[in-house]
Amino acid sequence: MPSMPNAYTAANRALWNDWLATQRDSDHHRDVARFQATGSSLRPIERRELGELGDLAGASLLHLQCNMGSDTLSWARLGARVTGVDLSDTAIARARALAAASDLDATFIRADLYDLPSLLDERFDLVYTTYGALCWLPDVAHWAAIAARYVRPGGALYILDIHPISATFAQIASPTGDPLSFRAAGPYFSATDPTAETASGATVYTWPHSLGEVVTALRAAGLRLDFLHEHPVSFWPRYPALVQLDDGYWHWPDHAIPLPLLYSIKATR
Ligand SMILES: C[S@@+](CC[C@H](N)C(=O)[O-])C[C@H]1O[C@@H](n2cnc3c(N)ncnc32)[C@H](O)[C@@H]1O
Repeated sequence: MPSMPNAYTAANRALWNDWLATQRDSDHHRDVARFQATGSSLRPIERRELGELGDLAGASLLHLQCNMGSDTLSWARLGARVTGVDLSDTAIARARALAAASDLDATFIRADLYDLPSLLDERFDLVYTTYGALCWLPDVAHWAAIAARYVRPGGALYILDIHPISATFAQIASPTGDPLSFRAAGPYFSATDPTAETASGATVYTWPHSLGEVVTALRAAGLRLDFLHEHPVSFWPRYPALVQLDDGYWHWPDHAIPLPLLYSIKATR
């Protein structure tokens, strides 16, 4: 394992560059294809929960960890003035190309989120981050302070992310034939050292952050909680037992006791 936190980030940057350049059938590429085919890659939860911002015309939106920009540009198409930030060079190059090809105005910045304050000094109506964000970040309190500084007074931060409890267990083949057997699989609470996993031949570094730690960090950063919702659906087939329905999400089968797989928070300054 690297010894410095920024060495982990450098390894993750190289990994994301490689993944996005080589794995053409990933969820991320499917998001871009959906955006190109339908004009939007947004999913039902964020559309529903940000409905009160339905009139996004003219609202400014900062998308943290925007990947290849399809969600960022989907909000632009609904009228928002968008800025997207991501660690990956490939992601940002693709996002800029997608904006140009779609004839949409957008600013995309390649940066480690923790370096953003030295590159961007604006306030936004909505700071937005979704679907696989916080696990890539070592320090949740520092993330919250940075995210909150970009929210204008009266503006909001919205996060929709993987529920941390879902990373603590993995489905196993059961010796008793029970189709839903699980084993403990990972930590729940924040840790200084990342969890190192091998994916497609490379090492990926991620960090767990408990729900309590996220909420407390947002509060400490000066934001007021509007809601915290837990959702029993996933945006990818996290466990073999999950079933994809027409809304695009992966759901628990009928015989399962549903556990949360995503959570969303809106917090206001
Ligand atoms: C699972 S993707 C998020 C997908 C996103 N919901 C979207 O709009 O497609 C996670 C993203 O976080 C980015 N990332 C990882 N570490 C980061 C960091 N330290 N600073 C900024 N972005 C980072 C990765 O490059 C990747 O694009």
